[in-house]
Amino acid sequence: MKFVAIVGTNAKRSYNRMLLHYMQNHFDQATITVVDIQGIPMFNENHPETDPEAVVELAAAIAEADGVIIGCPEYNHSVPSPLKSVIEWLSYRLHPFADKPVMIVGASTYPQGSSRAQLHLRQILDSPGANAQVFPGNEFLLGQANRAFDDEGNLKDSGTIDFLTQCFDGFLDFVAMHQQFKKGDA
Ligand SMILES: Cc1cc2nc3c(=O)[nH]c(=O)nc-3n(C[C@H](O)[C@H](O)[C@H](O)COP(=O)(O)O)c2cc1C
Repeated sequence: MKFVAIVGTNAKRSYNRMLLHYMQNHFDQATITVVDIQGIPMFNENHPETDPEAVVELAAAIAEADGVIIGCPEYNHSVPSPLKSVIEWLSYRLHPFADKPVMIVGASTYPQGSSRAQLHLRQILDSPGANAQVFPGNEFLLGQANRAFDDEGNLKDSGTIDFLTQCFDGFLDFVAMHQQFKKGDA
């Protein structure tokens, strides 16, 4: 399977980016391409006829993928504005999330590991222009992310690794079920 993993921040240093790279490096049942949103301008409804090139490219990558993973940080108990802005672009003229399986993971330096932002992100991805198929349950919340990785970017805690692996295995099943359903075999 082929997944696009979106880093939900424009920050240069990001624990959510580290988390997605960890998944990319350790989960070989799928090809995971980590994508940054730093080059994407703030959404503007009055932007002339065409979308920015970076938006068009990201939309094409999502459209071709079997699923999307979003690494969601938490700012002010919600989704960071750069990530929200990207979803606005991708629910305006282009709709690559429509019917696309999406897994949400998140890391935060506070103990709750982006739990509030993840709940908001689920609602946002349910909105009419987005219409994603968000993988239910399996909330992977990495709290105190500043202590979670070693110098090589590996997660240190075996319980955390086991839970992330369990969530990812569940997502693979969810995507496979979704594909069967779309083919009419389910
Ligand atoms: C403006 C701002 C607001 C924040 N608000 C929250 C918050 O509400 N909850 C939380 O758990 N962490 C909050 N944080 C801390 C982030 O979890 C932390 O900066 C984290 O490293 C962001 O994810 P990243 O490393 O992937 O960029 C906030 C950080 C900033 C800069």
